[in-house]
Formats: sequence, structure tokens, C-alpha cells
Amino acid sequence: MSSDAPSPLFSHVVGERGRALIIGNWKMNGLLAASDVFDRVVSGAAERAAADPRAAAVAVCPPATLLAGFAERARATLVGVGAQTCHPEPAGARTGEISAEMIVDLGGDLVIVGHSERRAPKAEGGAGETDADVAARAAAGHRAGLIAVVCLGESEAERDAGRAEAVVSAQVAASLPDGATVANTVVAYEPIWAIGTGRTPTLQEITATHEAVKAALAARLGANADGVRVLYGGSVKPGNAAEILSARGVDGALVGGASLKAEDFLAIIDAA
Ligand code: PGA
Repeated sequence: MSSDAPSPLFSHVVGERGRALIIGNWKMNGLLAASDVFDRVVSGAAERAAADPRAAAVAVCPPATLLAGFAERARATLVGVGAQTCHPEPAGARTGEISAEMIVDLGGDLVIVGHSERRAPKAEGGAGETDADVAARAAAGHRAGLIAVVCLGESEAERDAGRAEAVVSAQVAASLPDGATVANTVVAYEPIWAIGTGRTPTLQEITATHEAVKAALAARLGANADGVRVLYGGSVKPGNAAEILSARGVDGALVGGASLKAEDFLAIIDAA
């Protein structure tokens, strides 16, 4: 298999409608020694896929430093690998940035864009990315042939003010690029206040918000919204994954902290 195109195996399972998708976001965690965690995920996912042809599709987004090695380790398997952001431009004088084309060159299948830790203001350690910035990064991913995982979600103050559904609907309208389809785009709804906190919305809140996201996707993309997965993210753990993943409108999960331990991540995959 060429390393300059998304793994056909991962693309194939993502292309199967109705199949759950579980993505691990390692954030700025993992040295080379953590590669054996990924190896355990790959072999565990292979066992599950062999036992159940409808097992969840699985991908891991390690830090960019581990991407090439993980892509090599996942070669010719069903497990996808991806980056955690990309620059909108393909190349140029952008010190420290990584383009979508470079991610494809390493064997990447997907790219997370618009995570709340990047949307956060620079004064809070984020990159101050706006909805327009997020849409440009997702479009860059599409240009290069990557699946874009577009993240969005409300703050605690917005939830408390009863504005969560309006906020995520506006984010969908402005963060999705033209040309988004089920084959190239996944949306991850991640309430900011649930990320890394151990707190999660109620199942009713998750379902209502996912319905709002899907309605906004239909308004933004028309017929192309059909089948686009909406993942839930924010404190998904082995102990709550089955309940969250059974909620109506939840098509998978974006998992942070619990994706750093192979046994926890595999338990979440089992819950899907
Ligand atoms: P968490 O992170 O699972 O550690 O809450 C989720 C995310 O930020 O994608």
C-alpha cells in the first residue's frame, strides 16, 4: 500500500453507513515508548473486527511526532491514524506548522480540526481559532484527501444560559466547508465543560444537542448531510461509554484521556 493516500481499509469501514466510529485523541501526550500502546490497540481492534464484521471503526490521532511511526504500524490494518490539526495552506513560510498534504505524506487518514483547546483564546493557551479558521483547515484536509473531524461544543456558561443548541448550530453553519460529505467529514460534539473534567451531559441533553447538530448539518449541506457521523466527546470512559454510545443520535466517540491506555480504549470500542 502506498503511504501517500488514506488507508483503503480504514476508508472502507468509515464508508459503511451506520457503523460506529471511535477516535482517540492523544493530545500532547506520548513519547516513542508509547508506541506499544498503539500496537495493543491495533491488535485488539483486529481481533474485534475478525469476531464481528460490524465492530466499530477505530482511529488514533497521536501527536505529529508519532504519526509516521503509527501509520507504519497500522499499515494494512483497519485502524486509521490522524493528526490533531493542520494549516490551511499546502506549504510555505509558516514556521512550526504542518500541512494536510504532509499528514497524507506520512500515511495519515484523518485530521481533527477545531478542537476546543485550539479554539480557546491565545491568552488561555489556545490558538484562538474561529469558525472560519476551522472551516479552512477542514477544507485543507479535504483538498489533501483526509477525513476532517470537525469539533464543536458549547461552554458551561452557554449551556447554563440555555444556549447550547443555538451555539452548536451556529458552529456547524460556519465551521463546515463546502463539499463536506459522509465520506470526508465527521463532526464531534464536545461540550467544553465536559472535556477532561469527568462530567458529562445527561443522555437527554446529549440526544437533544446531537439532534440540533444534525438539523444544522442538513441545513448547511442539504442531501450531503445524509449519514455524516456525529460523535460525542468529553469524559468518555469505560464506565459510561455504553450508555453514552446508546444515546439516540450518537454515532461514536472522540476519546481523550481514556485513549491513552489500550485496555480503557478497547473497552470503549467494545461498548460501541
Ligand atoms: P477527554 O477529552 O476524553 O479527556 O475528556 C476529549 C477530547 O478533548 O477530545
